[in-house]
Amino acid sequence: MNKIKVSIAGGSGYTGGELLRLLLFHPNIEVAQVTSEANVGKFIYKIHPNLRKSTQLKFSSINELEKCDLLFLCLPHGSSMNRIEEFKNIAERIIDLSGDFRLKDKEEFKKWYHHEHTNPAMLNEFVYGIPELHREKMKNAKLISSAGCNATTSILALYPLYKEGLIEEDRTVIEVKVGSSEGGNKSSDSSHHPERSGSVRSYMPVQHRHTAEIIQELSFGKKIEVHFSATSIDMVRGILATCHVFTKQPLEEKDLWKLYRKYYNDEPFIRIVKENEGIYRYPEPKLLIGTNYCDIGFKKDEFSNRFVIIASIDNLMKGAAGQALQAFNLMYGFNETTGLEFPGFHPI
Ligand SMILES: NC(=O)c1ccc[n+]([C@@H]2O[C@H](COP(=O)([O-])OP(=O)(O)OC[C@H]3O[C@@H](n4cnc5c(N)ncnc54)[C@H](OP(=O)(O)O)[C@@H]3O)[C@@H](O)[C@H]2O)c1
Repeated sequence: MNKIKVSIAGGSGYTGGELLRLLLFHPNIEVAQVTSEANVGKFIYKIHPNLRKSTQLKFSSINELEKCDLLFLCLPHGSSMNRIEEFKNIAERIIDLSGDFRLKDKEEFKKWYHHEHTNPAMLNEFVYGIPELHREKMKNAKLISSAGCNATTSILALYPLYKEGLIEEDRTVIEVKVGSSEGGNKSSDSSHHPERSGSVRSYMPVQHRHTAEIIQELSFGKKIEVHFSATSIDMVRGILATCHVFTKQPLEEKDLWKLYRKYYNDEPFIRIVKENEGIYRYPEPKLLIGTNYCDIGFKKDEFSNRFVIIASIDNLMKGAAGQALQAFNLMYGFNETTGLEFPGFHPI
């Protein structure tokens, strides 16, 4: 079988580099072009040194992109929506890793992104990119909008509870702790080493854009509220989401075991992590580095109707490149796990 010819727009960044790491070893993929405006003509391994001896490709400009089967967009916010018609002429299929096409409603987009969408007519043409929720739609999709990393963690943590209507819809509190690679490869005052190192910084206590995705995917026709805060911590990769939910009826831990097993037992990339002993009793980002897993655990508060749901991913993998490749596999009818079947490191 001929290989699928794919290119990456925005391949010098963190998600683009991680994607290339995966694509180069996928048995059904040929990587045609990888773009960077700042590094045109440079060997890719000079920017992504982990790929030395894995590729001799050089960066192209985005304006030199040639026709291919599928284009991955790893560009900053705004680029995809402004140039989508141009990109559609390059590739029949597109997977966009930015937030440009994640929300279905242009008013919601304006509310959370604080400006008008420049191509609102296309919002409904993209399939929202969490395979565990939209697998069937992805199989026929031409356009997929990969989900936000914090949103992925939160949605997967809470999906079974919202789907079954088991929790109070307006009381959920989500606190995510995130690593620095979430911010991309451009340095800023806040990423300057003396300012970032050792910090625990509450950078988005309210109004994080990913809240909108979480509400969109968990509402199931009801009005729900999700109270989301994000804190950056001293870690390069990884997200830990601690979600506080309040059940409508008294539930026991065995009920949640049953529920999470029902939804996730057959999911190749979701693991229920809840041990009674040892140090790894709940999900931990460090163990997920470089993998496409989402680990989910939970604990009942014996003194109230609160459960704490804990979930973790690698933001550049299940939160970006890995999830995008999972979607790619579904689009083309390959085994969903192709190119993603590896555990993390221990110790690390
Ligand atoms: N980081 C994460 O954890 C994460 C997770 C999920 C989704 N995302 C989303 O994925 C997208 C990429 O994120 P990232 O972290 O990989 O960002 P990044 O590290 O800043 O990389 C951005 C890429 O876009 C290119 N680029 C920038 N401006 C451009 C322009 N005007 N025209 C053409 N190319 C341009 C850059 O190339 P140059 O070499 O030319 O600068 C670079 O390759 C973002 O929309 C982000 O929100 C990120």
